[in-house]
Amino acid sequence: MTRGNPARGLPERHCPGLGKVSKLAGMNPALDSRRARVAAALPLGDALLVIDAGEPIPLPEGSDQCYSFRAHAEYYYLAGLECPGAVLTYDPRDGAAGWASFVPVVTEGERVWEGRVQPPGRPLGELAAWLAARRGRPVAQLGAATTHIAADSENSQRARAALTHARRVKDAAELDLLRRAVAATARGFSEIPGLLRPGLTERALQIEIEAEFFRGGSTRTGYHSLVGIGPHSAVLHCEPGPRPMRDGDLVLVDAGAEVDRYTADVTRTYACGQPSAFQRDLYQVVLGAQERAIARCIAGAEWKAIHLATAVDLTAGLVAMGVMHGAPESLVAQDAHTLFFPHGLGHMVGLGVRDASGLAPGRKPDPRASLRTLRMDLPLAPGYVVTVEPGLYFIPPLLNDAVRRERYRDGINWPLVEHHLQTGGVRIEDNLLITAGAPENLTAGIAKQL
Ligand code: GLY
Ligand code: MN
Ligand code: MN
Repeated sequence: MTRGNPARGLPERHCPGLGKVSKLAGMNPALDSRRARVAAALPLGDALLVIDAGEPIPLPEGSDQCYSFRAHAEYYYLAGLECPGAVLTYDPRDGAAGWASFVPVVTEGERVWEGRVQPPGRPLGELAAWLAARRGRPVAQLGAATTHIAADSENSQRARAALTHARRVKDAAELDLLRRAVAATARGFSEIPGLLRPGLTERALQIEIEAEFFRGGSTRTGYHSLVGIGPHSAVLHCEPGPRPMRDGDLVLVDAGAEVDRYTADVTRTYACGQPSAFQRDLYQVVLGAQERAIARCIAGAEWKAIHLATAVDLTAGLVAMGVMHGAPESLVAQDAHTLFFPHGLGHMVGLGVRDASGLAPGRKPDPRASLRTLRMDLPLAPGYVVTVEPGLYFIPPLLNDAVRRERYRDGINWPLVEHHLQTGGVRIEDNLLITAGAPENLTAGIAKQL
């Protein structure tokens, strides 16, 4: 049978959930003030703003289905709609009245096959006239950039940087969704301690955690849940598989429930049965470093400085354990910590697991190799929500590398590393709301116990 949306010249596919209107779309005061704040922050001059939601991506199997649709975050933030093909525009000459929302007209096929309803907004067919009435003006294009239009790339880049920065301070509606996502996440994590027993697989643990997320009000997971058992706990993004727990294994779970596009991002590390003294020490080093990092998350603090201070704390812990040799500051200056702590301290979280991370306005990426993995370089400010997620891992592909072994011949206790190569790793991750005073740990209610 033939189905399609002729208005958009697209084949129609079964895409459950398309055209959903978020709670936010009904909360016009929240959206209005968000748009006003963004309009004031964007360096548009006389340029028009065009933000595309994007198009669904068909599954490559002829099943008449698409990947789960996600409107581009830049569109969703300002339109509050999960609507494929939709476009939000802004004309700065018209001030607060300058925003216009265009949405495809829902077809009979979409109503019949998917139960779609018509989202609020002007028919997409009117976009051409809106643009024609403003012919000759420069255009900044954001979002998925699917509308065929001669956008100005410099204007677009400047607008993107300004919008990203404006999105960093979370408003009340966003914090409400985040708190609900955290509550659902906490329900999932609360299941874990009772499930830690030999034989339970990564996959089985994932299923139990996610089921509880959904019972707790989650609309989906914010990202693929990561579950690593034993040596897999050192695989930074470990996809859960059939590996079963054995007595003495470390078990690392990194997962977040999402509510209406807002996700938590939490990691806890556990032991199946009795942890060894070495595992306990490793856990305490990470936990101590995380607590110190959290205390450093105050307004005005530079993220890069917090990351480096945490790297020194982690390195000092490894020196105390006899895994590394030397002065922690000097080892960090030589990037030796990256063999055990190869990722950044964290990132922004909220509308998407990485949310509006990146550089402070006007900054260039830091050229230092060990800082390339940092997902942001900015000073913290009240209203930001960031993850703090230090970790220490025994990662064979890094620790077996001959070049690294030679470079850090004296700084690392290689026989001890060899002995613990299959230990896995420990990461502990919380989500913090930066305030004018001490940070609020949104995920503090999720127990930390090895
Ligand atoms: N969930 C992946 C991360 O922690 O960034
Ligand atoms: Mn995580
Ligand atoms: Mn994270």
